Amino acid sequence: MEPLLRMSGISKSFPGVRALSDVSFDLMKGELHALVGENGAGKSTLMKILSGLYKADEGDLYLRGEKVTSTGLAEMIRQGVGVIYQELNLIPYLSVSENIFLGREPRTKVGTIDWPKMHAMTEEVLKPFKLDIKPKQQVMSLGAAYQQIIEIAKALSLKAEILVMDEPTAALTGNEVDRLFEIIGELKDNGVSIIYISHRLEEVHLLADRITILRDGERVITKKRGEMSNDEMIKYMVGRVLEEQYPQYDSKAGEVVLEVKALTKKGICDNVSFQARSGEILGFVGLVGAGRTEIMQTIYGYRKMDSGEILLRGKPVVIRNCQDAVMKGIGLIPEERKQQGLILGMSVFDNAALSVLDLYSTLGVLHRSKINDEVNSMVDSMNIKTPSVKQLVVNLSGGNQQKVVLAKWFIRHCDVYIFDEPTRGIDVGAKVEIYRLMQNLAKRGAAVIMISSELPEVMNISDRIAVVFEGRIVKQFKKGELNDEQVMEYSLGLHERRRA
Ligand SMILES: Nc1ncnc2c1ncn2[C@@H]1O[C@H](COP(=O)(O)OP(=O)(O)OP(=O)(O)O)[C@@H](O)[C@H]1O
Ligand SMILES: [Mg+2]
Repeated sequence: MEPLLRMSGISKSFPGVRALSDVSFDLMKGELHALVGENGAGKSTLMKILSGLYKADEGDLYLRGEKVTSTGLAEMIRQGVGVIYQELNLIPYLSVSENIFLGREPRTKVGTIDWPKMHAMTEEVLKPFKLDIKPKQQVMSLGAAYQQIIEIAKALSLKAEILVMDEPTAALTGNEVDRLFEIIGELKDNGVSIIYISHRLEEVHLLADRITILRDGERVITKKRGEMSNDEMIKYMVGRVLEEQYPQYDSKAGEVVLEVKALTKKGICDNVSFQARSGEILGFVGLVGAGRTEIMQTIYGYRKMDSGEILLRGKPVVIRNCQDAVMKGIGLIPEERKQQGLILGMSVFDNAALSVLDLYSTLGVLHRSKINDEVNSMVDSMNIKTPSVKQLVVNLSGGNQQKVVLAKWFIRHCDVYIFDEPTRGIDVGAKVEIYRLMQNLAKRGAAVIMISSELPEVMNISDRIAVVFEGRIVKQFKKGELNDEQVMEYSLGLHERRRA
């Protein structure tokens, strides 16, 4: 049978990088074909060629058996290709409705935008997600997960025949992921073909009809679901056998470095108290919207608290703003790397150097060579894929951008590190490196706090775990004391209702 889509012999180079060489890929009608590979393997580039955003240097593209000669963005949308990009492309100061229907707003008879209709249409496309998102709400006011859902809803509203999902679940947790999978099932039933990119390999096993693996810009193998074990898949991806997914270490919890007492901010967090000790990793779990990020932002001085107390090494401190927090030895590594973590138009080196300028300068003179050594050694140990540290961050792959955000903070010595979703969008091999680096920070004597929506990761990497529900810590426990189901019960607030 002729595939719906066939890409044949695709090659693409950027200055200093051969992103794709001679890659072939096809997609059958109603099929979900997963595309996996390490950060920088070329997945997004291949999809940008399909969407018409990039032009291939070599190779051909066939749709419904016919060669596509002019591939521009508009042409590919007309041909029924819809793409949910890895980077969010929403306009923050516009409303949810405006973002979804930008450039194709429904009109009234006199030609003005038909707002009531547009809001109703927005409610319709968002309905399957069963979330509290208002069409008139500014996108800026929404967290990463909700923004991701709007991006997905937007692509769905285009009614594409081929839908590309580039890491749609990276910003989502349990419930939203389940809903997305239901929607994917419905789309497939309706004959929509899907190309699915994800670093969460369980998802790939669950959803994919076929799996194609890219490594260093080359296609390694294509197999049917069930014909490849997880270990095999990892081996094809990273080119070696991965020994341990969750490295173990001897944690030695020491003195309390950060203590938070009865932190309260109306509508955000309620009476939050916890201690983070030197030498330990403290994990925070909870559903999207539970308030984990917001609690940390309040501690960090990004939001003003109503009441409560923060103590560093036993001394009460007032943290006025984020700079103040950094000066006092607290680093927060945000989940939204593009908005808060990186300057995309600057190089890898400059981004990394920014966070340590004050540490590596004497009397206003910058020790460039010292910073250079640090940055280069980070690039090596984290396996950041870039032709050099001079490369602009905007040109790195999604996962490699995320690594640069982390590198910035690994270089800087803090007493308390707060990592918000540190492994989002990071490939299996590099995740292990990030766990090791976090463990090294703890060994060095720092208190490490990690917010993560990947339960296996929190359960394996943290020494202690706090569960957040509706802005409160509803449970704290030591590693191994509770199992996954018990943690989910606390995350869903089941124990709360029982108590009330
Ligand atoms: N516009 C660009 N300019 C220069 N290099 C680029 C550009 N876009 C991509 N690259 C490079 O091409 C390679 C492939 O990148 P791509 O974004 O396709 O990776 P990916 O497989 O999607 O990775 P990830 O899992 O991290 O998203 C990387 O080395 C990347 O740095
Ligand atoms: Mg990518």
